[in-house]
Amino acid sequence: MAEPLIVTIDGPAGVGKSTMAKRLARELGIPYLDTGAMFRAVAWKLGEGSWEWDEARLEAALGAFTFALSGTGEDSVLSLNGTPIGNEIRTEQVGMWASNVATLPVVRAFLKQAQRDVGARFSLVAEGRDMGTVIFPAAPRKFFLDASVEERARRRFLQLRELGKPADEAELREQIARRDDQDRNRAVAPLRPADDARLVDTTRLTPEQVFEILLHGVRP
Ligand code: DC
Repeated sequence: MAEPLIVTIDGPAGVGKSTMAKRLARELGIPYLDTGAMFRAVAWKLGEGSWEWDEARLEAALGAFTFALSGTGEDSVLSLNGTPIGNEIRTEQVGMWASNVATLPVVRAFLKQAQRDVGARFSLVAEGRDMGTVIFPAAPRKFFLDASVEERARRRFLQLRELGKPADEAELREQIARRDDQDRNRAVAPLRPADDARLVDTTRLTPEQVFEILLHGVRP
């Protein structure tokens, strides 16, 4: 069997990574892996304050989690312990909890293994914060998407409204800026582009234009 093809998409909150990863995965006929959803699901299951637990307690709790990925493109389904991860994790509050647990080496080590296990079996479009730098450093195609915090807050606002979860845009901007700051400045696997990643500033680009850049990057 041929080596799995891994395409990585990293970038800050609300930049459109998931939308692009889904579309690209559909175009390539492979699954996409939303690693932010893994951090969110762990944070959601462990609950508020779990980032203060000691390592032994965290390790014991993490040992009960098994992730699985099935389907391709938009129909990729990520499950935790046999249950598909739902929209309950898609709030900015759970995003912040995810960012909190994501500072912990024990959580990152656990999810690194889970993410690599998936990547060892499937070709993938993998999106997150450290896909190109830490999880799949040998991936042949790497992208780093960025956009101004104002634009990202606007996009997240529209996305949440679509999910029936209206939010305050100014508050979102503040929350996203705080989360980015924590994700960029943590000691382990901070958010940053891999040296060999293609940087795409999407602030003034339409989703169509961003998609064309990614697709052209994968299939020149
Ligand atoms: O992409 P997202 O908003 O769903 O991610 C939620 C949080 O999870 C993000 O603020 C930091 C953490 N995360 C991470 O540390 N590494 C990843 N590869 C993906 C997400």
